[in-house]
Amino acid sequence: MQKISDELRREKKTIGFVPTMGYIHEGHLSLIDVSNRNSDITVASIFVNPTQFGAGEDYREYPRDIEMDKMLLKKRRCSFLFYPDVDAMYSKYFKTEVYVKDLSRFLCGIRRKTHFKGVTTVVAKLFNIVKPDIAVFGQKDAQQAIIIKRMVEDLNYNTKVIIAPIIREKDGLAMSSRNVYLAKGERKDATVIYNSLKETEHMIENGVRNVSIIVRRIREMISSKKSARIDYIKAVETKDLKPVNEIKGEVLIAVACYFGKARFIDNIIVKV
Ligand code: PAF
Repeated sequence: MQKISDELRREKKTIGFVPTMGYIHEGHLSLIDVSNRNSDITVASIFVNPTQFGAGEDYREYPRDIEMDKMLLKKRRCSFLFYPDVDAMYSKYFKTEVYVKDLSRFLCGIRRKTHFKGVTTVVAKLFNIVKPDIAVFGQKDAQQAIIIKRMVEDLNYNTKVIIAPIIREKDGLAMSSRNVYLAKGERKDATVIYNSLKETEHMIENGVRNVSIIVRRIREMISSKKSARIDYIKAVETKDLKPVNEIKGEVLIAVACYFGKARFIDNIIVKV
């Protein structure tokens, strides 16, 4: 992959990169579109990265379908797919980790203590392998997006990070490879996450600024669903993920919630 990237650069082609863990859906493909619009050549990677899964998480069960993925990526004009195996990415001597302090501790980092260290380490490696001019990530993983932007700035990567909007199913559920885990009833219940975020938007449009009132309403709506178990509902600053008490300026409202065994995240950014 490094040789291919060097060759593309010699040919003065700009490289767009979409890192994924595979089980490609329309959300990933929308990132490919953004990359194609912003670069000459798009490279995707598929790597279910073991270091970002904690003990008891779904590393082994994570859905995989490489043949289908290849077909979908090719159809959407993704020119190269980097698809390494675990040994190629992590040799038995592997020792180096990339950790973005503070930002990795909040929100999802509270329950998933080593998750973001795994993400930043693998993304740093992927950037050094693919050498992209631009890299596209999804807004669904809002905290990941903020952390990667910080890493890119702090470590002087010569890569522009583009964050692309969340792509949703018709009923509002954010697209995710993990949606396949949902049983029928859970799938129906899971739409409450987006409905509660939409309700939040209406509340803010109607002048509500107090975060406790907003969080209480989201909690009330999600708790009304039998299969839902809330992990967190938070309103935070978009730069440093610090909690806010009042909606002022730009605020990220983020929700993490279990339906059955699987954990789902979603968010909106509001500006007042
Ligand atoms: O968002 C993902 O799919 C993963 O966290 C990423 C960025 C590909 C790193 O493994």
